[in-house]
Amino acid sequence: MKLSRPDLFREAAYLAGRWVPAGSEGLAVHNPSTGELLGYVPYISAAETQEAIAKADSAFQSYKRLTGKERASLLRRWYELMIEHREDLAIIMTAEQGKPLAEARGEIDYAAAYLEWFAEEAKRVYGDTLLAPKSTQRISVIKQPVGVCAAITPWNFPSAMITRKVGPALAAGCTVVLKPAQQTPFSAIALCVLAEEAGFPPGTISVLTGKAAEIGSEMLASSRVRKLSFTGSTPVGKKLMAAAADTVKKLSLELGGNAPFIVFGDADIDAAVAGAMTSKFRNAGQTCVCANRFLVHNDCHEEFVSKLAAAVANLSTGDGFDPQSTIGPLIDEKAIEKVSSLVDEAREKGAQVRHGGHPHSAGKLFYTPTVLTEVTPEMSIFHEEIFGPVVIVQRFSDDAEAVRIANDTPYGLAAYFYTRNLNRALRVSEELEFGIVGINEGAISTEVAPFGGVKESGFGKEGSKYGLEEYLEKKYVCIGNVN
Ligand code: SIN
Repeated sequence: MKLSRPDLFREAAYLAGRWVPAGSEGLAVHNPSTGELLGYVPYISAAETQEAIAKADSAFQSYKRLTGKERASLLRRWYELMIEHREDLAIIMTAEQGKPLAEARGEIDYAAAYLEWFAEEAKRVYGDTLLAPKSTQRISVIKQPVGVCAAITPWNFPSAMITRKVGPALAAGCTVVLKPAQQTPFSAIALCVLAEEAGFPPGTISVLTGKAAEIGSEMLASSRVRKLSFTGSTPVGKKLMAAAADTVKKLSLELGGNAPFIVFGDADIDAAVAGAMTSKFRNAGQTCVCANRFLVHNDCHEEFVSKLAAAVANLSTGDGFDPQSTIGPLIDEKAIEKVSSLVDEAREKGAQVRHGGHPHSAGKLFYTPTVLTEVTPEMSIFHEEIFGPVVIVQRFSDDAEAVRIANDTPYGLAAYFYTRNLNRALRVSEELEFGIVGINEGAISTEVAPFGGVKESGFGKEGSKYGLEEYLEKKYVCIGNVN
């Protein structure tokens, strides 16, 4: 890795203003594309996690007293530093996560945009004045930070999932203890170097690397931690939710998805193919919002599938540092085994392979972008979150059938559909049981809009004005005996 600022790559955790170096027994981090060892980060212990929480709690007592404008300036500076060091941050991300460098640069911009957004929102925390039931009373509602927040973030977006949790928390006046994914801690650490440089006081943010079970259980057990924000799988989210009940923590859970992508008979097929490529193949299909099930009307099935297969054939699978690559590796062996076995089972049960259908020669963790048709609900691939570069297509014959199939899942994060009919667009967007709906649009992620699901995809919104509310408590204040 050639970095302009080599100190952004740091083999250490950050415990309330103190850098804790990785010992010889640290957690090894590898490049998923080459298998190369990148470095080590420490296994933060239960006692160190408690120390970070205690320090976050004492930092909270002073940090919450900063004005909105002061917090905004810190966040703004952090944002500027991210933009200044975009290239180094992207290189670190590609090295540990595998995504193509152009995509990593895009993620740094996306991640920084949350800091910029919440720097602006920090100044706009408004309360309410209510009409009291008695003329001698005055009632107001004030908003205050919830307190120490824990954030547990995933490997698929090593920077953006951090800034969209930590940004609003710090804007609201909370302090944060962050546990990044084991596979991608160096992006989190690099962001933390820049947060320290931006001037966040010690204790306002800690980055605790190591084992999820050890760090997570301390976060959950602590009554000082008043909120947990988690992005990851639904089974893990359910366990965290149950464990958070003991201390009745506030929660934001951004969990799994099983996004339908519906192409109606009247759709602009070229636009639908372009949207499908954007939605499905971002990060090699390893996103919670990526299209997971394509439902295509009988009338346009062949045209859509043949154009899509041609576009998929143009993708270039390879190492993220190769400028030609548009599809990087999957994150680990478990991921490649899962994708391979889902595709193999679908093929055995009658799915037709229109492109790919096998691992890729670029390396152990690469899978060839794949298009399968004639997929049916009897196949596991239809129900599972694939998290890989595989398109599965099922036919439908009318709107009601498409909506019924789309909603027939415990998940409810994102849904997409393509149509030129305004009535259909309005009706279907209301009927879909999902937190995010893209109509004639495959790229729906932005800091300005509320990101979050319904049903077993979780609850709590991230980004937008709603994202800040998740880190604020409303307090009702009643003044009596006013003459
Ligand atoms: C995710 O996959 O969890 C996040 C994707 C996004 O922010 O677009």
